[in-house]
Amino acid sequence: MKSSLNVEPLTGVLGARLSGIDLKSGMDKELLASLRAAICEFEVVIIPDQSLTPKQQVEFSHLLGPYSPVPFVKPIDEHAEVIKVVKESTEPEAFNFGGVWHSDFSFLPIPPAFTILYAIDVPSAGGDTVWASNTAAYSQLDATTKSTFNLINGIHSASASYSPAQQDLHSQLSNMTIETSEKAEATQEHPLVCKHPETGKPSLFFNPTYVRGLKRRMDSSEPALETEEEGNLMKWLSQWTTGIQFTFRHKWSPGDLVIWDNRSTQHIALNDYKGARRELNRTTASDSVPPSPYHKHLRS
Ligand code: SIN
Repeated sequence: MKSSLNVEPLTGVLGARLSGIDLKSGMDKELLASLRAAICEFEVVIIPDQSLTPKQQVEFSHLLGPYSPVPFVKPIDEHAEVIKVVKESTEPEAFNFGGVWHSDFSFLPIPPAFTILYAIDVPSAGGDTVWASNTAAYSQLDATTKSTFNLINGIHSASASYSPAQQDLHSQLSNMTIETSEKAEATQEHPLVCKHPETGKPSLFFNPTYVRGLKRRMDSSEPALETEEEGNLMKWLSQWTTGIQFTFRHKWSPGDLVIWDNRSTQHIALNDYKGARRELNRTTASDSVPPSPYHKHLRS
């Protein structure tokens, strides 16, 4: 069936609501290309009123890219590529999955391009997700800061979330199986300013959870960052990139399917729904290339 996509921007920065598609009936090439372009342009898209089994969600995810590996979190029994993000109404208030600013698994050599989150059961009040545009955060820097940042790498690691010291927190979530490991200490460098592989736009590939340090790139002629300078820059980037002016907030309804671009955004799941249940199924689609520096492209 041929259908067309209606796109309604939800802020002047990022986020759009899409209508005119039923994801379980498949889509022609033209519609898929429009959908992909909308995700890359608006960075987060909301597709309401969907009804998807885990298998159908995976089939849809594969249209955006192959399965992207999910370390530390056990998938659901029905499908090895789906994880359930669930917090029961009786669980302690102190912790929720995804409740800190992050881009999904940015510590991997090739982080997932897209995350697809499908709402099954959501609180009547609270439990929203907020995204921040790392593209907007870069674009509003002055020229000197842009040049400095283009010669820095972020050192990404899962240590703050998935090292064994965090196991007790994760074990509070009775219907998610999260297995922390020493492997979380491994580090992966990515450029702080990346060129989006599809739009060509620069963005700050930064999130305060998985970026654990910063260092000057090999092609920088500046001296190595001092510990204090690095710490100050980390604090500044954490605040700047999550500034309210770069954000979009979504209130979930059951049947919402939200897709976001991890290459240009970070997000946080708000933990403000004491006594309510929240359940969503999550899949991730891989990118075909690792994050690449924008700097290289500035010069050429
Ligand atoms: C996540 O970070 O993957 C979960 C986001 C959410 O539950 O809203």
